[in-house]
Amino acid sequence: MKMRFFLVACLAVFCILGVCQGGNLRKKFYKKTCPQAEEIVRTKIQEHVSARPDLPAKLIRMHFHDCFVRGCDGSVLLDSTATNTAEKDSIPNLSLAGFDVIDDIKEALEAKCPGTVSCADILALAARDTVSVKFNKPTWEVLTGRRDGTVSISGEALANLPAPFFNFTQLKESFASKGLTVHDLVVLSGAHTIGIGHCNLFSNRLFNFTGKGDQDPSLNPTYANFLKTKCQGLSDTTTTVEMDPNSSNTFDSDYYSILRQNKGLFQSDAALLTTKISRNIVNELVNQNKFFTEFGQSMKRMGAIEVLTGSAGEIRKKCSVVNS
Ligand code: HEM
Ligand SMILES: *[C@@H]1O[C@H](CO)[C@@H](O)[C@H](O)[C@H]1NC(C)=O
Ligand SMILES: *[C@@H]1O[C@H](CO)[C@@H](O)[C@H](O)[C@H]1NC(C)=O
Ligand SMILES: *[C@@H]1O[C@H](CO)[C@@H](O)[C@H](O)[C@H]1NC(C)=O
Ligand SMILES: *[C@@H]1O[C@H](CO)[C@@H](O)[C@H](O)[C@H]1NC(C)=O
Repeated sequence: MKMRFFLVACLAVFCILGVCQGGNLRKKFYKKTCPQAEEIVRTKIQEHVSARPDLPAKLIRMHFHDCFVRGCDGSVLLDSTATNTAEKDSIPNLSLAGFDVIDDIKEALEAKCPGTVSCADILALAARDTVSVKFNKPTWEVLTGRRDGTVSISGEALANLPAPFFNFTQLKESFASKGLTVHDLVVLSGAHTIGIGHCNLFSNRLFNFTGKGDQDPSLNPTYANFLKTKCQGLSDTTTTVEMDPNSSNTFDSDYYSILRQNKGLFQSDAALLTTKISRNIVNELVNQNKFFTEFGQSMKRMGAIEVLTGSAGEIRKKCSVVNS
């Protein structure tokens, strides 16, 4: 008993000294304060996902966009105000969706345990649960205890999110700036096993790769011809194609098999084949079990980027606005 007190006291001192920052997320953070929290999220996701088959892709991407801009603090969920343009209204927000689902879950949680569960945690849990429910399999563990930020700035989304035109060096630097490795980069890109991409984000590879009306030589020519039958031209902002052709409705390791056939959709996908180290990781991840294990671990690392914990930030009452 004495020993335990001693340990707790030590921990408290370390925390005051700031030693325990960042690693503060834990399993079932709401066990005491809102025991049904995780179950409510899951039940709500079950309700929504049957009517919205695209929800898993939307929510995983939203969680990624949240974490890469000011850490996983729910800043992506905030609406613009009269004096501020939020992340939501930046160029890379293109096709983000599912905000209404997060709001709906939040409402249910506020009814049960007001002011307790953060929007950042709801998003992290919901992203996991949509994949798990839709594809009917256990996925990754989500630690909780994040708190919500109060700032969301459009320009920061543009500055912090990797672009589909990035080469390997740029991708590596983008991930490194968030404390993530090349291994995380290759593993997390595997999220492109589901979902869609808009033509204008890759059609330079089809129609004008170097400004001479040419095609990207690193893109499979048969696949390029197929894509040309879909996309209307360089500025087609409305047509979408599956990122993992023929398998975009399954959460599997097919992304890596397709990638090895030079059928990665974006330059940022193709870039993963341009160094030996990343190519080796791609080859490993073709193995489905390996992919699932690694994806879970990298999601956990992504979900911990620059999180606010303890008494930092706030617990928003409504996910789209900061508390007044
Ligand atoms: C490595 C750098 C990455 C780049 C450059 C990138 C870029 C993109 C782009 C341009 C789109 C298409 C958006 C559209 O046209 O509507 C997209 C879609 C998507 N991304 Fe990424 N992404 C990256 C990493 C990630 C990560 C780390 C995740 C999650 C772990 C992720 C999950 C998704 C999902 C699920 C979609 C499909 C969205 C939908 O169907 O609406 N991406 N990504
Ligand atoms: C994305 O931003 C544009 C403005 O740049 C806005 O019109 C659009 O509604 C936003 N999309 C989402 C999904 O928030
Ligand atoms: C990647 O892109 C950056 C910025 O355009 C450029 O400076 C760099 O040389 C490129 N790196 C490679 C290996 O192509
Ligand atoms: C292709 O790119 C070049 C150089 O940027 C540009 O001058 C030309 O107009 C582009 N072609 C088309 C069809 O947009
Ligand atoms: C998708 O499947 C069709 C029919 O099996 C096949 O012809 C096509 O090559 C596949 N697409 C890709 C990109 O592999």
